[in-house]
Amino acid sequence: MDDRHRGRVTKEGIRIHEAADFDGMHKAGRLAAEILDDLCYVVQPGVTTAAIDRVIEDKVNAAGAKSATIGYKGYRHASCISVNHVVCHGIPGDKVLKDGDILNIDVTVIVDGWFGDTSRMYVAGKLSRKAERLIQVTHDSLMKGIEAVRPGNTFGDIGHAIQAYVEAQRMSVVRDFCGHGLGRVFHAPPNVLHYGRPGTGPILEEGMFFTIEPMVNLGRPETKVLADDWTAVTRDKSLSAQFEHSVGVTADGVEIFTPSPAGKFHPTWG
Ligand code: MF3
Ligand code: CO
Ligand code: CO
Repeated sequence: MDDRHRGRVTKEGIRIHEAADFDGMHKAGRLAAEILDDLCYVVQPGVTTAAIDRVIEDKVNAAGAKSATIGYKGYRHASCISVNHVVCHGIPGDKVLKDGDILNIDVTVIVDGWFGDTSRMYVAGKLSRKAERLIQVTHDSLMKGIEAVRPGNTFGDIGHAIQAYVEAQRMSVVRDFCGHGLGRVFHAPPNVLHYGRPGTGPILEEGMFFTIEPMVNLGRPETKVLADDWTAVTRDKSLSAQFEHSVGVTADGVEIFTPSPAGKFHPTWG
């Protein structure tokens, strides 16, 4: 049997992975997180986002892995780099980082067929107080969502934990993009919403693998996609931040596949 099709799928189309599959995710997640760790020294005022992407592509190749984004729906880069009011899917290019810019770098690698998907925030130069608060709240909202991951809870519990925390800080959760199931594929059911009501949505089961990747805006939640058909920005031009982990549901909780080996997940510039 093709081992991509081992195991069970729930009525919502969510794959239930086996114990041995956690190891594959762990290796893929670790490489993605290591690459993000190494970028702390690369992100500086004066550097272009294309130069950062080239460093990422070289690191993926040096590890003998594959970039999941190169060739994905015609995308040609090893990362998405989303600066300031860019919400997600920023395309690396000749944009030069300037002092005080904040940016999300999102890397997905394939190792032995398993996908590791993670993103963090970085700053070029000096961080402003309001950007620091946005980044802290976004990071903490992801961790609140992860704390809601255990068998028997629902996806709505995850979204609610994120939304309640963010809105209590008077910031907003983006609705137009969500997390996703992954494993031996990049994007699979379910859509992991970063807002919602407790007790709603599919029930979490041991062996589910998915990302949680909240995008949080200082202003309103609405986004629009630019003419390049990729770059999503805040409609009101307010600053936006995002963090992403790939996780798996265990017998009694959660395993994060993409923790920072260097302990740098946040703050990444320390
Ligand atoms: N890594 C992104 C995610 O978190 C997807 C990027 S797809 C790309 O799902 F083509 F824009 F790179
Ligand atoms: Co993702
Ligand atoms: Co990602």
